[in-house]
Amino acid sequence: MAESLKESIKQKLDTAKLPEHIAVIMDGNGRWAKLKGRPRVFGHKSGVKAVREVTEACAELGVPYLTLYAFSTENWNRPSTEVSALMELLVLTIGKELKTLMKNDVRLRAIGKLDFLPEKCRNELKEAIEKTKLNKRMTLTLALSYGSREELTDAFNSMLADMQKGMLDKGPISAETIEQYLYTTGIPDPELLIRTSGEHRISNFLLWQIAYAELYFTEKFWPDFEREDLYQAIFNFQQRERRFGKISEQITVG
Ligand code: FPP
Repeated sequence: MAESLKESIKQKLDTAKLPEHIAVIMDGNGRWAKLKGRPRVFGHKSGVKAVREVTEACAELGVPYLTLYAFSTENWNRPSTEVSALMELLVLTIGKELKTLMKNDVRLRAIGKLDFLPEKCRNELKEAIEKTKLNKRMTLTLALSYGSREELTDAFNSMLADMQKGMLDKGPISAETIEQYLYTTGIPDPELLIRTSGEHRISNFLLWQIAYAELYFTEKFWPDFEREDLYQAIFNFQQRERRFGKISEQITVG
């Protein structure tokens, strides 16, 4: 019964109207673990299964871009034991999943202040990014040590530096130019942003890029998020009318 229910959500999806890019704020690992009387790190470890499920489901459906908020600039302020455990988990997971990424033709990218990551983590990431760089089916971007305000600040400072070097015109700056200086350059804007755990916040994630994204919030904690939850989010997205500032008649008439 449960299986047929899952299938029915997937079958209701319009494969011609899939979001090109889904971004996810994976939240609630700590609370999930606490409810089970387990340490927070157990929640993060359990969250890896959801990462795998969502990545596989996106690849199978044909969603070309998936971005996961795995560690924010603010997360550095957590207890050092939790930060170290998360970094260790990232190293382990990236190493372990590399074969699967290759097998499924998934390209790995990372955005954020990657220089702040421990050397082991940086090296593991670098290797996986290099090995998967020609993969075409899907791009999986991990936001690590990421903050959107930091990304915008970096972009403005790089533009200023390039202007001073004469590599960028001193004239007015366009939105297209700003986009070229973001960490996400080359990746289309997310069309659907999912946040788990019942929090209704953006938390400094892709502030520029989500200007027109549809926001989807679910009460589920991240470790409980499964394929059918993703299908549900996409189904919900497909029921919405995206007007981009126009009126309804302009959209339906074309
Ligand atoms: C938010 O839950 C989650 C994180 C800060 C980390 C997410 C990391 C993973 C799922 C593990 C590995 C990821 C990859 C991409 C390999 P929280 O700790 O803020 O939960 P809380 O709000 O309940 O405290």
